[in-house]
Amino acid sequence: MPDVGIIGASGFTGYELIKILRKHPGVSLKVLNSENHAGRKVCELYPDFEDKELEFTNFGIDEINNSKIGLVFLAVPNKTAMKLVPKLKAKSIDLSADYRFKRVEEYEKIYEAKHADAERRAVYGLPELFRKKIKKARLVANPGCYVTASILAAYPVQKIAKYIVFDCKSGYSGAGKESAYVKDPSILRDNIQAYKLTTHRHKYEIAQFIKTKMSFTPHVIDTFRGMMCTAHFLLKKNHSPEEIKQIFKEFYANEPFVEISDKIPDLHDVQGTNKCVIGGFEIDDNNQLVVVSVIDNLLKGASGQAVQNMNLMLGLAENAGLVL
Ligand SMILES: NC(=O)c1ccc[n+]([C@@H]2O[C@H](COP(=O)([O-])OP(=O)(O)OC[C@H]3O[C@@H](n4cnc5c(N)ncnc54)[C@H](OP(=O)(O)O)[C@@H]3O)[C@@H](O)[C@H]2O)c1
Repeated sequence: MPDVGIIGASGFTGYELIKILRKHPGVSLKVLNSENHAGRKVCELYPDFEDKELEFTNFGIDEINNSKIGLVFLAVPNKTAMKLVPKLKAKSIDLSADYRFKRVEEYEKIYEAKHADAERRAVYGLPELFRKKIKKARLVANPGCYVTASILAAYPVQKIAKYIVFDCKSGYSGAGKESAYVKDPSILRDNIQAYKLTTHRHKYEIAQFIKTKMSFTPHVIDTFRGMMCTAHFLLKKNHSPEEIKQIFKEFYANEPFVEISDKIPDLHDVQGTNKCVIGGFEIDDNNQLVVVSVIDNLLKGASGQAVQNMNLMLGLAENAGLVL
């Protein structure tokens, strides 16, 4: 059974990885690195954690490289992963944005940083589009959460639309455990914030795969986990809702984690799961199609999808450990 590790294990996505990997039937979790919490029990930071003995570690990169670790997850901030990946010998899955852009110049412009590992290329870790490549990859760039919800909502019908508006809402765990929303819950109490109107970084990540003209606006809501993308498509010609639904059903027919719903999905359909549920499919008098997709930002939007990618990279069943 391959050994695996997490760098950044104490963060929100790191904790989700711990919960999935310690019960995973095909791998053994050996590294739970945290710079600030090494030696402390996981349950001291996350009191709901069942295993009251498991501790955070702080192995050096050399120790990881000299061990039998077959795959490392980097659940660390943007601009940190690119300094760690070049040092690691094992296969890696980066949950940050550092390797998500095909053109490094675009990353440098959007993230306002010089890339420390500019020559390396990763496979984009969206299994619904790139499963074959992920299976052979040594480095996978796990997609952004808004990007996952938006691409899955739009990819099958992007060519029949003149314009797409992605109106997205995220639980506040999307900003990580150090965010102002976590530290000061009064900001979001009975509230919703549209915190970037036209220039959120995920817009440019979506645009790598959605070639139709589009807009993207994210909102943060008073919910810990879960994300909704309400996608509006101005259609080029008339289509029936049944026809659209059939396109989605066929496109995702063999996908283990995408469900096409007969209703308008909501966050309760996906919280705590690795699923993306897509539904709605209404068309109004202006020939505007509305599709709703929902995911758990910490799972299909981050750690669940990362484990799905790991399963593919290690030749395990794609849903191993992910029937949550
Ligand atoms: N939250 C989401 O819904 C979501 C979704 C998709 C992608 N992501 C991406 O996933 C990554 C992790 O997100 P998160 O929400 O888990 O963030 P988080 O809660 O802020 O946790 C980040 C972790 O990184 C560690 N860290 C910080 N600086 C480090 C450094 N220089 N070297 C090594 N470790 C360092 C911290 O651990 P210690 O201080 O304990 O060492 C902490 O455990 C980010 O790149 C984020 O953009 C997050």
